[in-house]
Amino acid sequence: MVIRYPLATLAHPATMVMPAQTYRQAFGVKILNSAHPDIRRLKREGHDAAIHGNKFWNSSFLVMKYLKANPPQQGARILEIGCGWGLLGIFCAKQFGAIVTGIDADPAVGPYLDLHAKVNGVSMTFEKKTFSQLTAKHLAEFDLILGADICFWDELANDVYRLMKRAKKLGQAHSIIADPCRPPFNQMAERVLAENSDARLLRRRLSSPVRASGDLLWVP
Ligand SMILES: C[S@@+](CC[C@H](N)C(=O)[O-])C[C@H]1O[C@@H](n2cnc3c(N)ncnc32)[C@H](O)[C@@H]1O
Repeated sequence: MVIRYPLATLAHPATMVMPAQTYRQAFGVKILNSAHPDIRRLKREGHDAAIHGNKFWNSSFLVMKYLKANPPQQGARILEIGCGWGLLGIFCAKQFGAIVTGIDADPAVGPYLDLHAKVNGVSMTFEKKTFSQLTAKHLAEFDLILGADICFWDELANDVYRLMKRAKKLGQAHSIIADPCRPPFNQMAERVLAENSDARLLRRRLSSPVRASGDLLWVP
């Protein structure tokens, strides 16, 4: 049987309202954007990130690309510092079966991290903590420490510098901190390179899924 719909009920393609794209997929990770109903709901519920953790930042992509070429051991214990929505950690859980913890000074980012872990089908633990609250003993529990876009003020870059030093006291973790080369990061990286002959500054560029460039400070 052929069903014939009256033409008047069909909108012309040019006038049809298409649903807005509410997420993207990059490096195997699903990333919701601000138009997604669940992100809108969290905002309505009052989870307002106050220290720039209100969205996902691009430097994480530079670390994802690096880790794809230089993967950590399967099941590695990974700490993402200043994790925001936690997508770098979620990438590690998904790609490498990593056991991931994210810490952030701002508790408002936690629900966004939990949501992204859920839509990506992995688990990631969130703790509200500042860089300076992470003790050498706590840091020694991890194999790898990651951070992206977290050195945008001098005081933050200093805190991250001290955290990396503490990480070496009792533990074996190496660190990778990514940044689009803001001055506080550059100064901190120079200091680390001057004090640690094994540390490296790796310049990275991406043209897809976004155009991004920056440095990875790699400290073994
Ligand atoms: C620019 S956002 C980057 C978030 C995430 N890394 C990303 O790439 O999407 C900076 C994050 O650092 C967090 N942050 C700022 N100061 C901090 C501190 N002292 N200790 C821990 N986290 C901090 C903020 O709350 C925010 O989530």
